[in-house]
Amino acid sequence: MGFAGRDLISINDFTNEEIEAVLDLAEEMNSRLEKGEGMELCKGKDMATLFYEPSTRTRGSFERAMHKLGGEVISFAEAKTSSSAAKGETIADTVRVLENYADIIVLRHPWEGAAKVAADYAQVPVINAGDGAHEHPTQTLCDLYTLRREKGKIKGLRVCLWGDLKYGRTVHSLIYALARFGAEVLCAPVQGLDMPEAVLKGIRSEYNCVPCKVKPDDLNSMMGEVDVIYITPFKPYNLALWPDLNAGSPTEINIREALEKTDVVYVTRVQTERRTKVGDTESVESYPIMNGQLLREFKKKPLVMHPLPRVNELAYELDKYPRSVYFRQAAYGVPIRMALIALLLGASELEVPQSRCIGSLLRKIAYERYKEVFGVRCPNPNCVSNHERESRYLVPEFKMLKGEPLTLRCVYCDYETHPPYIASSEWHEGKLENKRYYSSDSFMLGRIKPKNLIIFGSESEAQARGFKRSQYATSPKKVRRGGG
Ligand code: NCD
Repeated sequence: MGFAGRDLISINDFTNEEIEAVLDLAEEMNSRLEKGEGMELCKGKDMATLFYEPSTRTRGSFERAMHKLGGEVISFAEAKTSSSAAKGETIADTVRVLENYADIIVLRHPWEGAAKVAADYAQVPVINAGDGAHEHPTQTLCDLYTLRREKGKIKGLRVCLWGDLKYGRTVHSLIYALARFGAEVLCAPVQGLDMPEAVLKGIRSEYNCVPCKVKPDDLNSMMGEVDVIYITPFKPYNLALWPDLNAGSPTEINIREALEKTDVVYVTRVQTERRTKVGDTESVESYPIMNGQLLREFKKKPLVMHPLPRVNELAYELDKYPRSVYFRQAAYGVPIRMALIALLLGASELEVPQSRCIGSLLRKIAYERYKEVFGVRCPNPNCVSNHERESRYLVPEFKMLKGEPLTLRCVYCDYETHPPYIASSEWHEGKLENKRYYSSDSFMLGRIKPKNLIIFGSESEAQARGFKRSQYATSPKKVRRGGG
């Protein structure tokens, strides 16, 4: 499949081969930039940057990239106050207006799933420049490009993700890419700010990786407040990576030795703006600052990366450490985004052969979809589908995951939920008195045809729709399978 006309919402929208093609083209763009060669690939094209959140690197490098390609930019740096969003306009309407003025839209928004909504409604390609705590795929392209340039490869690298892994959108996109390219990932989160379970689950079920827990005792002695670290070994190559570090159990590794073998430390700031909104109480004060002393524990003199901006999690003394690459990482944003814009606009043609895509590490699982105006909603309060303005036209939509318990994954933000009740839209014999709801883990789940399935987040929701409790509806904790 070519790139022209496509969106980039999640890093998983591109196969490994497609990502490599973008990186190759960026390399070409970079050398032309270095030679001072002008490029007119996007002459006559317009790009809109619609940023509802602050940005220096992402917007700056997108706009410079388009200028370098000979195109024009319509810039909404403070879209929250300077666009019609301030008057109450929805994302869907804004992008349907902007598509008349621009050939491509770059969107940054504080709500998870906002970029998908924009892509669903705009006729022109949409690039996600960060949607809440969800994903930041173009930062990942910059990170992969940095790894390739600085380390010569991605596969087999041992990368430690450090900091706020819960709300940091950069690490959510990055961990998928690293796992898919066969890097080994160690997560070192601030206490309480662990990599979301849904992300680890996705990596496990869709990309065959196995997250392992690090032995807590070692962690405590090593880093005080940090309480959990995972590694995501990549099954096709190795069932348990760092097997030499396994202390007896295949799911436990020793933190000190793990750090000693790390090739890259990817530091992130604590996303204060997202924590306060959802009322988190995690303490981050005691989290160790990445400085010269701590870096000495990483015996292999690792590359130090950071998506920036930094606050105080990364000491300034590391700026003179030769393997600190965070400013170069930011600079690579220009050639990467030039490559991406040119490809999505069809200004650079690159066909990634299908045959190469088939053996791809990307496994697209076709899930059943569930979409219903009433009933279950996404549990993430910051999901775009839960914001009153957007919920005027958005219908909650989920992928139904296989297995038990009944699991729905929001198509906008990837949050998962296990709704407790179900019903059928075709009640028995069509009689209203047979309009009943059941526990989702009763045998009725297998009986109801997917096209008739209705899912509820609570009993009151079911009752509000006129369904009566059946004998197979028990309170969520006491449910027994196939009960009489
Ligand atoms: C990141 C972001 O916006 O998520 N910044 C960036 O785009 N380089 C990281 C951050 O803000 O912490």
